[in-house]
Amino acid sequence: MLVADENVFALFGETFLSKFKATGKTLFHMVLPSGETTKDRKVKEQVEDFMLKNKMNRDTCCIALGGGVIGDLTGYIAATFMRGVPFVQLPTTLLAMVDASVGGKTAVNTGYGKNLIGAFHQPTVVFMDMGFLDGFSKRDPVRAEREFKAGIAEIIKTGAIWDCSLFEVCEQKVEAIQRREHAVLNEIVRRSVAIKAEVVTLDPKEGGLRAILNWGHTIGHAVEGLMGMTDYADGLLHGECVAIGMVLECNLARAMGVLHSSAVGRVVRCIEAYKLPTKIPHHLRIDDIMRKMMGDKKNTGGKLKCVIIDRIGHCWEPKASMVSSLRALCRLVHFACRHAPILPVRAAHAGGRACCPRAGGCPT
Ligand code: GLY
Repeated sequence: MLVADENVFALFGETFLSKFKATGKTLFHMVLPSGETTKDRKVKEQVEDFMLKNKMNRDTCCIALGGGVIGDLTGYIAATFMRGVPFVQLPTTLLAMVDASVGGKTAVNTGYGKNLIGAFHQPTVVFMDMGFLDGFSKRDPVRAEREFKAGIAEIIKTGAIWDCSLFEVCEQKVEAIQRREHAVLNEIVRRSVAIKAEVVTLDPKEGGLRAILNWGHTIGHAVEGLMGMTDYADGLLHGECVAIGMVLECNLARAMGVLHSSAVGRVVRCIEAYKLPTKIPHHLRIDDIMRKMMGDKKNTGGKLKCVIIDRIGHCWEPKASMVSSLRALCRLVHFACRHAPILPVRAAHAGGRACCPRAGGCPT
């Protein structure tokens, strides 16, 4: 059962169907509208009814051809159809390659928030081909460019939390990456996916360590939620919100006294080099951002949690850390709504210290 995004299917669908025919296996397919509104319980039901009507059973394998929306929806269908069938991911955006397609998080959105109904269901195989990224550049260059950079934001994140040398490739090969040279893309995607796979293998259901993949996401998700990303042109993409979140969460780490200001500068410069946003959009209100952050899934016992890096390539704790000073965070958000990406802060007491279960990290 192939579930495909309409834009992707227009570019690659016929080739896929004709090549698949050569295997001699039956392939049903359903093409769904592009965009976040497809990640919906009603759409899930439509696909399931189509599968039931065509008498699919436990022998069925679901294949997702598209970005994160199609991957998350198809994965969730596979997780529950006949109590679970295998599924294969064919991610076609950089963001889906380095993040959504790996790790088995599947979900649909609800009126109460994004990804609130879902399951952990690991894909059997994930196939990635950088050629997918070229296809979109020709068809809709403006959209493709923006989505590509949003994917880069997640790679910068992965380097910053786990592997300084991956971060350095992002810093040093800006031109080659922006030209989408396949050799460098293959390298950064492969390394990013390997890190995500390592973290997810150690903590598949996000008991602790996996939360570090959400660096930049506490503030990023709050901004994303408030921007109402229903129409891509009016809002910010997920990766763009994460870019803003990384800048702010770096500043938070500096305010806590655990991250040197030179490291904050490097992160900001790297994000700016890809022309990703670094500032909270002006019209957002501080109290709305704080309220959204208080509702973050990582929080426990009513306490706000945030991933903190203590140097590039290394997290302060192998999990999301408790933010003890909401006042400091509020002050940072306040400045960030109006001022520069590197914010004036007074260093505060850092508290206890723990290390990731792994050596490494840059000195700054
Ligand atoms: N996107 C973060 C995770 O998969 O855990």
